[in-house]
Amino acid sequence: MSRFPEVLLALAATLTLSANLAADARKPVGYYGYGEAATAEQIAGWDIDVRPDGLGLPPGSGSVEDGESIYDEQCAECHGTFGEAVGRYPALSGGEGSLQEERPHKTIGSYWGHTSTLWDYIHRAMPFQRPESLSDDEVYAVTAYVLYLNDLVEDDFVLSQDNLASIELPNAGNFIPEQRPDVKNKRCMKNCRDPEKIEILSEAPLYVPEGSLKVAAADAGPTEGQKVYQRSCGLCHDQGIAGAPALGDAADWSRRLEQGIDLVYDHAINGFQGSVGMMPAKGGFVQLSDDEVRQAVDYILEQSR
Ligand code: HEC
Ligand code: HEC
Repeated sequence: MSRFPEVLLALAATLTLSANLAADARKPVGYYGYGEAATAEQIAGWDIDVRPDGLGLPPGSGSVEDGESIYDEQCAECHGTFGEAVGRYPALSGGEGSLQEERPHKTIGSYWGHTSTLWDYIHRAMPFQRPESLSDDEVYAVTAYVLYLNDLVEDDFVLSQDNLASIELPNAGNFIPEQRPDVKNKRCMKNCRDPEKIEILSEAPLYVPEGSLKVAAADAGPTEGQKVYQRSCGLCHDQGIAGAPALGDAADWSRRLEQGIDLVYDHAINGFQGSVGMMPAKGGFVQLSDDEVRQAVDYILEQSR
């Protein structure tokens, strides 16, 4: 067959494309002319997360008793008959009270924060070889059984959409929400900074709580000491975490200066166990030079007079 019709087709396609592009030029910003809006059904297929308050749970229920047979058939081979784990697979029970030990044993009963996470995890990821193969009622049942293995419910318990959020895991109170701001930046259209002069201070920028830092006038630019401080010291010294003397606490810093500045430098460089806490050598940022640490100390002292 001749290639002629194909060429024609290609040409027609090109023409349509340019017509589309011309049409696009009139479309509002943000319109790209491809893809399509996801249907409610498509979104529902992805939108399967469950919140601690139970939002997102589908209707349904399952008993400890039904969960036991599902668990024995589909979970025990890896997680152990009692949730104690087989080999290196994760244990699902035990470990209560071990979180303060050197090797904490983190299970649903000892560590996890919310029952919703358990339901959600099993629903989306387990059994390992066949994720999303369990029906909603089966997920309720096996979740109830895992709770039972952790002594959190009785053997006649029935878990449902209505009572799941009310089951508190023992470690729930030790999860503390941390309010970090969203990271965002305005696009600069005029009088922008020279890109050459923009410096990346940290690969994982540390969160500096608003108002906790006395920032030098913006155009003066931070000193070397301030930069080191923000990168490596502020995470403890901004707020006085773990006993660290806080930036700006003149009384605490002047008391520390009484031992002589050299010892203060030495403690920052080599670390020390003080009476209130442990200052790690260079704050744990061992790649800092001694000089950089001294400059950071100078910055702290300047800000704490
Ligand atoms: C073939 C082995 C296997 C089977 C069968 C299996 N799991 Fe898992 N499970 C795993 C592995 C591996 C992980 C860890 C996955 C990871 O960390 O990415 C895991 C993780 C989990 C976790 C999270 C544990 C934690 O502390 O992080 C839960 C809960 C869980 N499985 C429940 C179940 C339930 C319920 C079933 C049965 C319906 C099941 N699993 C079947 C292998 C298995
Ligand atoms: C992980 C937390 C942490 C980080 C990070 C940290 N510090 Fe500290 N720092 C402490 C604590 C805690 C103390 C108080 C110890 C005490 O007195 O019991 C302290 C005390 C100090 C002191 C007082 C020393 C003295 O002799 O009293 C200086 C100076 C100091 N830090 C400097 C720094 C500098 C500079 C950095 C960054 C390079 C830094 N710290 C990073 C926790 C930290």
